[in-house]
Amino acid sequence: MKTKTTFSCQNCGFQSPKWLGRCPSCGEWETLVEEIEEQSAEGFSFPVSDPVLYKDVKEAKKRRIKTGIEEFNRVIGGGVVLGSIVLVGGEPGIGKSTLLLQISRDFAEQGEKVLYISGEESLEQIKLRGQRLGVQGENLYLLAETNLERIIAQAEKLKPQILILDSVQTAFSSKLSSSPGTISQVREVTNQIFRFAKTREISSFLIGHITKEGSLAGPKSLEHMVDVVLYFEGERDHSYRVLRALKNRFGPVSELAVFEMDEKGLQAIANPSAFFLKERPKDEAGSVVVCTLKGSRPLLAEIQALVSSTLFSGNPRRMTVGLDHFRTAMLLALIERKLGYSFAGEDVYLNVPGGLSLEEPATDLAVILAVVSCMKNKAVPPDVTIFGEVGLSGEIRSVSQPLTRLKEAASLGFNKVILPKGNMNNKDKGGIPDIQLLEAKNIREASQILF
Ligand code: TYD
Ligand code: MG
Repeated sequence: MKTKTTFSCQNCGFQSPKWLGRCPSCGEWETLVEEIEEQSAEGFSFPVSDPVLYKDVKEAKKRRIKTGIEEFNRVIGGGVVLGSIVLVGGEPGIGKSTLLLQISRDFAEQGEKVLYISGEESLEQIKLRGQRLGVQGENLYLLAETNLERIIAQAEKLKPQILILDSVQTAFSSKLSSSPGTISQVREVTNQIFRFAKTREISSFLIGHITKEGSLAGPKSLEHMVDVVLYFEGERDHSYRVLRALKNRFGPVSELAVFEMDEKGLQAIANPSAFFLKERPKDEAGSVVVCTLKGSRPLLAEIQALVSSTLFSGNPRRMTVGLDHFRTAMLLALIERKLGYSFAGEDVYLNVPGGLSLEEPATDLAVILAVVSCMKNKAVPPDVTIFGEVGLSGEIRSVSQPLTRLKEAASLGFNKVILPKGNMNNKDKGGIPDIQLLEAKNIREASQILF
């Protein structure tokens, strides 16, 4: 058996034959860790296959199994594909184990055999959680184990339909001498589970911990190896959680589901827009409602702006929570240039309450109008919602799926929408007659219409 020493960056996965103080790939300091890889004699052996004529390739029939959580099924593209491997990433304490135990319960209740492997908690701890979630336990097997070869041997014996590994960072292969959680270990674990699950047609879920500081090398470096990547996000001190698909070989991505954590586990929220607008203040300057898209789903969310004179003259603050920092800086420059305000002596804060993050350019106009509302100290009427992308000349540009957005706005009782001129013609909105379209060509016009 040959051994090979490599140094892997624990932040980004970069590998080098010698130690370096700074990772040349991600620029982090002292993140390279020595990892000894024993290259086993047999290596990875894939079955030898010959080229096949395109027209002779058989159409794969994908059997999907659904959970009882409709929102989860939607995020994963209509159910879990048999034999697929899903990575579920998220911060510690966010609810990954809870979610997967709930899913295990659902699969087990449908008669699928589930093996839940935990390297983090004892069987008693899992059962305690299970009791809160109403797990009955027929068809659900628990295993407290961290040795990968033993895990696979047990799975081989039990022959489950669903395998859950909680977590990929606690499992280790005895083929490698590096410690659990290192890049080479998490890759090896994923690789072995992948090959095992594919040959046996077992659907598997790998839980991966990710920390806020961005030390997500482990799970991040697995994204290309798995079929589906789901991220579970939320603020610790908020009760809601957002589940998103980042990659899906069998379905659409960037679908989103919102859950609330209560004493009986995670409950799906069927109407996220209403949920995120629940605590919106009425008649306060600086708050607007944007109509954005998350995946295929429209979402109404609040954007808040606060402008106040700075204590840091010469270097006023530009803070954003839930919005892109650079894009916001660009929009602030546009407001100065086109609408005549000056932020020279002002701190500007922008916030998306509830811990949501909005990445879509269609939120531009709403960000601008939130700032203008704050500067004018005039509230935006509560029945108005906004969408539109803004270009560097201050022009408002059309965005995708205007009708989807209007329908969502109408269903929540909004009856005025400020939107890009020509994004939607009036006869198209046939289905939703009681919503008034306020079209604007540029940001000056939008600001005049609104105030
Ligand atoms: P957990 O699933 O253990 O998080 P992770 O696996 O991502 O580390 O759950 C985290 C939190 O959820 C924990 O602090 C307790 C809370 N919780 C509830 O509020 N209600 C419940 O029914 C359960 C099971 C957990
Ligand atoms: Mg856990």
